[in-house]
Amino acid sequence: MDFPQNFLRFLVSASRVAILTGAGVSQESGLKTFRDAQTGLWAQYKPEDLASPEAFVRDPKLVWDWYAWRREAIKGARPNPGHYALVEMEKRIPEFTLITQNVDGLHRFAGSQNVLELHGNIQKVRCSQCGTFAETWDDDSESVPACEICGGALRPDVVWFGESLPRDGLESAVNASRSCQVFFSIGTSGVVQPAAALAHAARNNGSVVVEINAEPTPLTPTVDFAFHGKSGVILPELVRAVWNS
Ligand code: OAD
Repeated sequence: MDFPQNFLRFLVSASRVAILTGAGVSQESGLKTFRDAQTGLWAQYKPEDLASPEAFVRDPKLVWDWYAWRREAIKGARPNPGHYALVEMEKRIPEFTLITQNVDGLHRFAGSQNVLELHGNIQKVRCSQCGTFAETWDDDSESVPACEICGGALRPDVVWFGESLPRDGLESAVNASRSCQVFFSIGTSGVVQPAAALAHAARNNGSVVVEINAEPTPLTPTVDFAFHGKSGVILPELVRAVWNS
């Protein structure tokens, strides 16, 4: 990838960088994205039928089983060179915030430190009634496992459609996006709010906005630099080009 010299010079001197990642970053770890027309996770269902409080009330077992299936897929997944390149970036940039919509935990697995998991983490499970986190549960039971404290149905600790994002995480994400010098939107279709608004918040505050994605997105016309290709290839190339490592 040929990166423009002015972009490389700017990045090497940047001290505040915010990154927003989406499912595309984990695609090369073998995990499906959400909106790929053929194989995407939502391909055969409407998202609201699997990932909403209403769906959980209507058919808790369907929702539970879908997340159990995804947990199983994620269990075998390992970070890819894109995740590791972001770890290297964090080591070189004094104020580095990694905001992710991914619930797979692969950024932390790779070694990223300052990570805001805006949509939660699929490996964590909590009671839908009293909020107590469960240490263990049976994924193969006939019905949705129950909370040991109150008997309520257990659910994944992720944000569903129609639910609010964790307030602290969102506030930190907005602050990082507003105060950064460079904002990267990587492997996300940029259509789900409020995460998608972070790029605009960055831009409105004078940040250079960069997109890395397999293909153009609705954000592309508004960014300063767009690099199209696999993040697992482009990110390591970028780290090499900027820091020569
Ligand atoms: P999407 O599936 O909407 O978008 C994935 C993006 O990654 C697309 O723009 C692809 O072009 C791009 N992509 C695919 N492979 C790539 C690769 N190897 N390298 C770089 N880019 C690649 O996923 P998200 O934007 O993450 O929310 O979706 C956002 C949210 O919508 C998810 O967190 C989820 C979903 O509904 C909830 O579950 C609440």
